[in-house]
Amino acid sequence: MTPRDTLYDSPDLYDMFSTGVAGDTEYFARLAAKAGRVLELACGTGRTLIPMARAGARVTGVDLAPDMLKACHDKVETAGLQRKVTLFKGDMRRFALKQAFPLIVIPYRAFQHLLDVRDQRACLEHCREHLTRQGRLVVNLFDPNLHLMAANLNSHGNASRRVGEVNTPEGGRITATAHRTACAEEQYFVDDWVFEKFDKQGQSQWRKSRVFSMRYFFRYEMEHLFELCGLRIEKLEGGFKGQPYRHGGEQIWTVRR
Ligand SMILES: C[S@@+](CC[C@H](N)C(=O)[O-])C[C@H]1O[C@@H](n2cnc3c(N)ncnc32)[C@H](O)[C@@H]1O
Repeated sequence: MTPRDTLYDSPDLYDMFSTGVAGDTEYFARLAAKAGRVLELACGTGRTLIPMARAGARVTGVDLAPDMLKACHDKVETAGLQRKVTLFKGDMRRFALKQAFPLIVIPYRAFQHLLDVRDQRACLEHCREHLTRQGRLVVNLFDPNLHLMAANLNSHGNASRRVGEVNTPEGGRITATAHRTACAEEQYFVDDWVFEKFDKQGQSQWRKSRVFSMRYFFRYEMEHLFELCGLRIEKLEGGFKGQPYRHGGEQIWTVRR
């Protein structure tokens, strides 16, 4: 297989189209302010990290992608938050930070990039080791929507959808379309996001393809996984306003050791 460009090589495109889940940054900022100190795994370009630092917390951010981390670093500097933020290039499956945290967060489905059980366990076990005695780990996943999955998939497991469109300062636009290939047996999909830039006259300027993969987790699978990794479930919410869990919405897990 030839190596392909991942979405995380392109922080500018990520920022344009990955705008999060309604209410997520406010939710994490509130938790961070209360905890005072927080570790964010897979912090990306700082979409969640910066609001947490702005809310007064000291934030440690870890991410595997150098381009995402560089974009995060630049935003932290622009916001004048250098003294509140420490960034590390690292892998959420194997990190050793020599300190424990009262709060660890994995927002915006980043945990779903861990496709196999060994990696998922490694991540949760490292989280457990980095939690203080009273500390909490909060993980956001999407809940697999069976109706949507069935309706969108043809017999080869493919589906396409328009992600969105963003206007450029020069009067043109950038569009994004996702082409999904799902592997139901392994509970994951590979998304190929095709971005296209058009000028003011509607002429195509460039076209880029960026890929990423995501595992989906059913509710009780997560319960077993947390239990296996020595983490006790405190609550499962279905939205960032404390909504109850419901099928096809969000899974927001709060767990402790
Ligand atoms: C959907 S983004 C989430 C970024 C950020 N948390 C947010 O709320 O916007 C997923 C991030 O996970 C990072 N990532 C993927 N696998 C990782 C791993 N094994 N360890 C650390 N970061 C990883 C990617 O580089 C990317 O920045």
